[in-house]
Amino acid sequence: MISKELLTNSFKEAYGASPELIAFAPGRVNLIGEHTDYNGGHVLPCALSLGVLCAAKKRDDGLIRLTSLGFKDEGVLCFDIEGELPQRSSWALYPMGVLRALNDAGCAISHGADLMFVGDIPAGSGLSSSAAVEVAAALALCGLNGVSLEVKKLARICQRAENVYVGVNCGIMDQFASAAGRRDNALFLNTATLEYEYVPFELGSAELIIVNSKCKHSLAGSQYNLRRQQCEAALKLLEPKTHADALCHISPEIFEASKDALNDPVLLKRARHAVYEEARTLTAVKALRAGDIKEFGRLMNGSHVSLRDDYEVSCFELDVLTELAWETSGVLGARMTGGGFGGCMVSIVEKDGIDEFTARVGSGYLAGTGVEAEFYRISPADGASLIN
Ligand code: GLA
Repeated sequence: MISKELLTNSFKEAYGASPELIAFAPGRVNLIGEHTDYNGGHVLPCALSLGVLCAAKKRDDGLIRLTSLGFKDEGVLCFDIEGELPQRSSWALYPMGVLRALNDAGCAISHGADLMFVGDIPAGSGLSSSAAVEVAAALALCGLNGVSLEVKKLARICQRAENVYVGVNCGIMDQFASAAGRRDNALFLNTATLEYEYVPFELGSAELIIVNSKCKHSLAGSQYNLRRQQCEAALKLLEPKTHADALCHISPEIFEASKDALNDPVLLKRARHAVYEEARTLTAVKALRAGDIKEFGRLMNGSHVSLRDDYEVSCFELDVLTELAWETSGVLGARMTGGGFGGCMVSIVEKDGIDEFTARVGSGYLAGTGVEAEFYRISPADGASLIN
């Protein structure tokens, strides 16, 4: 749990006054529907109780001053509200990109501000600490400037900040989940229309457990953008036969009847993942609504196999974790979650099997990789808000 008191005191120390407001934005875990959010498909994430706090106060001039308790050594970073953006490698690019994207969208963020961030999402875990920083910054800046945004617009602006200013061509899932998550519910989002519904996340005798592989692959950014290009190329080849405007709008039946158009085996695999992952996600939501957690778990396992073999975004460490989970009794389902190439596994485990799960997966992972995995027992939490 992040300490609001520590943040307020550190804010006073750095800026000589108390913050006017504090915004909180959570990280997310995706249950199923991976790499579908830029293919016109559905996703099923939930917000976490881990996240980012942003304390903020208006200034009388046009300066934006930024500090992060996670990057204390960097001290106070200072920018002109309309001046140059921070360097590519700086964490400050996230809040400054959000500020720019807010103004691009006509939100009139005209006051300078002092901002301070603190978070408890493990670094490099793939649980969307960047989306949490973006959403927290957006809420804080909007709060100081008397701007109110509905969640769709908030998520879109934060996604745009990342696409245009940070330079990562991500979909909208992470920002949307952080903005709109709801306690004890999964968020069933249609990424083509941004319509969404909450699905009660009731696991009965089981629990959600996230396992951090602590592996962070440097390839993640470039491979992510490459997957997007491959999906676009596959769609172009399928278009004449399917008339679809997105891979996830093609049903498995139509895909099977049209896949000869994909003369490149890599494109065939990428498209097959998108088509079948969408089908799995729709079935998983039905299973969850019907209380069939076993079926939900089986679909999670299928998702991992597809991400590993067809989409090729898993990695050795995530495969070791999932294999260990699948071999452990009491595990209903397990898969990598998020963009891939490292980060976390999400699993559903019977409550009375959790001790065995932690022991077996923990020791097996240590033996196989030399790394100690971290385990988090979690339940879906609320999305972003101002907290005072
Ligand atoms: C990352 C991106 C999301 C989504 C996932 C994969 O988390 O930020 O938009 O594409 O990967 O599902």
